Amino acid sequence: MVTTLDDTKRLAIAEKLADTRAIQNLIISNEQKLIGACPDADVRQRLQNMLEDDQKNLGVLETVIVQYGIQAEPQESVKQLVEQIQQTMAGDKLSFYQKLAQHELLKHGQVMSGIVVHKAAQVVGADIEVAIGPLNTVNFENRAHQEQLKGMLELVGVRELTGKDADQGLWARVQDAVAALSGVAGSVITQNSDKQDMNIQTLIRLDHNKTNTIFTEIGATKDPQKLQEYFGQLYKDLLAHAQAEEEVVYPRVRSFYGDDNTQELYDEQAQMKRMLDEIKAINPANADQFRSKVKQLMEVVGDHIRQEEFTMFQAIDNNCSDAQKEQMATEFKAAKAKIQQEMASSMK
Ligand SMILES: [Fe+2]
Ligand SMILES: [Fe+2]
Repeated sequence: MVTTLDDTKRLAIAEKLADTRAIQNLIISNEQKLIGACPDADVRQRLQNMLEDDQKNLGVLETVIVQYGIQAEPQESVKQLVEQIQQTMAGDKLSFYQKLAQHELLKHGQVMSGIVVHKAAQVVGADIEVAIGPLNTVNFENRAHQEQLKGMLELVGVRELTGKDADQGLWARVQDAVAALSGVAGSVITQNSDKQDMNIQTLIRLDHNKTNTIFTEIGATKDPQKLQEYFGQLYKDLLAHAQAEEEVVYPRVRSFYGDDNTQELYDEQAQMKRMLDEIKAINPANADQFRSKVKQLMEVVGDHIRQEEFTMFQAIDNNCSDAQKEQMATEFKAAKAKIQQEMASSMK
């Protein structure tokens, strides 16, 4: 019997992602305060641009958490840290320079968290790497922000000490440092900065890709513990994805995609859920039986995914505006997050 579908390593990464989201919110509220208190117009404008990046990156982080598939609470120590820093930033004990320096440290921490999650994903499983792919853009931008903050600190610090401006050429050096970092960005799935969200097809496709990756991982191992871990993730991902589609997407497409086609999608998902529960009852120590059942599931899911990506996506393109597709994505993401939270608390 599979006693639990939770895996400690995966939960630990989920917690790290929740910490990162809490710090990202803190970074945003810091920047709002710093902008209000900033004595220099140029620095203020730079902080304003940074704030806009950070607000967009909060959205990317939320996408990553939903893709990752496990919702968690931040650690107690992180919650306390957030509260402490909020008080410090709101108070008048620190100079503007000192507050900015504190902010730069947070950015540094955020860069390291991004790197750590990335490396941990490489250790734990390919499906996690797929899920956290968009985090790369956040990491890259945070590193660029760090360079910009160093420039601001230099300018503000020299002024606080001397009342005079630092050497000319400061911003040019900052620009150079940022440009030198662009090599690390690589090819990443990104969210356009002028958009609120990805469109619904991109978001659904990310889920499908992750599912395919887990099927590949299951196909490549006979280790019962690994099988249980991968299946646990697959189970949660497929249920949350299917339910979110049934709440947000299928009702919306029915009018133009047709009753029969839409009903077929519901029926296939019902079959998929039955198969998931059948497999859940098999002991993965019977690796061959377990894997052959998973293979059957893979065929059913594969057909279903192909129908969605080839015909339903086309119908959405033909009948929905860009804004409607983004709106659907935002609702899909929110629905999935809610379902994942319910799953997490029902497993406790
Ligand atoms: Fe579906
Ligand atoms: Fe789907």
